[in-house]
Amino acid sequence: MKALTRLDGPAKLTGAARYAADASAPGTLTAALVPATVPTGRVTSIDTSQVVDATVLTHHDLPRLTPMPSPPLGHSVLPLRDDLVHYEGQPVAVVLADSWQQAREAARQVRVTYDDVRPPLLFGQAEDVVPHSDHLLGEADESTGDLQAGLAAADRIVEATYTTANRHHNPMEPWAVLAEWVDDELVLHASVQAAALTQAVVAELFGVPADAVRVICPFTGGGFGSKGYVWPALPLAAAAARVTGRPVKLVLTRAEMFTLSGHQPATRQTITLGATADGRLTAIRHLSSNAAARVDDYTENTTHGTTWLYASPAIHTAMRVQRVDRPQPTPMRAPHEGPGIFPLESAMDELAHELGIDPVELRIRNEPAADPMTGRPFSSRKLVECLREGARRFGWSERDPEPRSMRDGHDLVGWGVAAATMDTFRAPSAARVRVDAAGRVTVETGAQEIGTGLPAMVQAVAAETLGCDPESVQVRHGDPDFPGHGGTMGSMSAMGLGSAVQAAAREVLDKLGADPGDPLADALAAAGLPELTAEGRWAPESSLAAGRSADHSIHTYGAIFVEVRVDEDLGLLRMSRAVGRYAAGRILNPLAAHSQMTGGLVWGYGQAVLEHSVFEPALGRFLSKNLAGYVVPVNADIRELDVAFVPDDDRLASPVGAKGIGELGAVGVAAAIANAVFHATGRRVRDLPIKIADLL
Ligand code: MOS
Repeated sequence: MKALTRLDGPAKLTGAARYAADASAPGTLTAALVPATVPTGRVTSIDTSQVVDATVLTHHDLPRLTPMPSPPLGHSVLPLRDDLVHYEGQPVAVVLADSWQQAREAARQVRVTYDDVRPPLLFGQAEDVVPHSDHLLGEADESTGDLQAGLAAADRIVEATYTTANRHHNPMEPWAVLAEWVDDELVLHASVQAAALTQAVVAELFGVPADAVRVICPFTGGGFGSKGYVWPALPLAAAAARVTGRPVKLVLTRAEMFTLSGHQPATRQTITLGATADGRLTAIRHLSSNAAARVDDYTENTTHGTTWLYASPAIHTAMRVQRVDRPQPTPMRAPHEGPGIFPLESAMDELAHELGIDPVELRIRNEPAADPMTGRPFSSRKLVECLREGARRFGWSERDPEPRSMRDGHDLVGWGVAAATMDTFRAPSAARVRVDAAGRVTVETGAQEIGTGLPAMVQAVAAETLGCDPESVQVRHGDPDFPGHGGTMGSMSAMGLGSAVQAAAREVLDKLGADPGDPLADALAAAGLPELTAEGRWAPESSLAAGRSADHSIHTYGAIFVEVRVDEDLGLLRMSRAVGRYAAGRILNPLAAHSQMTGGLVWGYGQAVLEHSVFEPALGRFLSKNLAGYVVPVNADIRELDVAFVPDDDRLASPVGAKGIGELGAVGVAAAIANAVFHATGRRVRDLPIKIADLL
């Protein structure tokens, strides 16, 4: 398909794009939160005697909201529900004033006392327990074949434990909402990843009909998972607006983004691989545990990829959580496979080294004919193509497998490879297509543009289906009167919304009795119509966990090759080049897709060597609740990136042939870098992020 530039670009560049915090209403009160300063305990008093020119609401003042699980709530502990403190940073009061400055100052004057404060229980100290969680996608334990027999049949066994760090999403735009009750209708200008879900959840929380809640969200300034579920800011603002009878605006501070919209929890994972001398896997075991807040058992579904990536007569996976004292985690790009593929793909490299087999060849040798866990056929699977094409492009055949065999001045040079794969999440989606007398096409969707270039994807599909010039297609988005969309999360938009747009555009052609490419103005005139509107929808045939439809194993794939340079004296690590080849179904807008994968690779680099939200053990809180204390890659970190797709088209995944790409790009990078570090230095680093101290 043709590469299209961003439809939303001019609006963003000129400031015309309106974000939630840009919304205003007469008489608006600005809210500031008073966060709990202890990790556990009970509020005993809230002293507001020093507060001036502001209203303070506590758990005594807010309406009771309907209890709901997480998900769809970010955290099932609703804000200001009672006097219990479940995590540091939990709102214990909300302060309302006429200006942001007044509200912040007043919030600082609120004095809160606590008792029953006990030392926090930390990840690594609690018991691993089987999660009973709505966050669990499928079963906690999965097994096929006889693991002990597989290990007994192995000529080589590698086993190691790997850890990944706590990470925060930190989208550029923090959570923001303007909540206004107009008679019995609640209008929310909100920064969310799923407006329709937000509408349904808020309606249930407040016990009002869904059509009494309007969520307006044309643009979201990034989310990466932190705005997927409904987090405290939203019900808090809506409840405060109800109590005061005035519109309430709440914009989280950067510090609050570290406690009130989730994080990717630390994981500890052990992989065991058994293989024959010629590199056939005989057994795979993947045991995983992640840090979870005491409620809700947030589960990082780390072991999924291990159930379908490689052929083995025996595969056993198990996921556990530790219920500890911390804010609630949530999915973060890339959830599940982001942390989960790192140990598997590191272990494959360890095995390749032990066996003396090239790591690309080892992976190809274990390519399964069908999903090893379920036996279902793959809808489409191009991992081998990604590995071969990536290796060719990278020049992999020049690699001397010996660690420390390559050097450039002071730098040890290493080459590493890893495979990537991702769950495929699918959700119903709908869209409306209108054609006017001049042949202009307008597509309407409730989805928001989150930074991925969604409007141009919609434009591309409409233009392709109708056979018209993309220039004649405009896209309107983020209005609650437009057809709903499952959410810009889980890499779902291309396949879901793309398929809905395709269905709507086909419906237009059907109604006009026209074929793709027929001039639409003529067809409309011939039909005697001033304009024509059609709605299209698509829903997957079954609800889907981990890319398993009733009939097929539906996943995306990739192969990442990286070159690192490690200064032998200083331990400084640089990624001097990277090649990623991906197979993710049909690519609807090559330009946007290229950007997504490039961004994903940079994000994966961050996971590998920079990102780490330190959890302070005595205080039971994230230590650096600001961007200065949370290191992410900048342009100077990134050199040569070469990303591209291998041809793929998956009509079993979706009618439009697309799967998801946004999260896939962030998978596998950390393993490829760690493997390259081993090749450069002979040191196997199994704990992310890789630190200078690991390389000295
Ligand atoms: Mo994604 S972690 O579902 O935004």
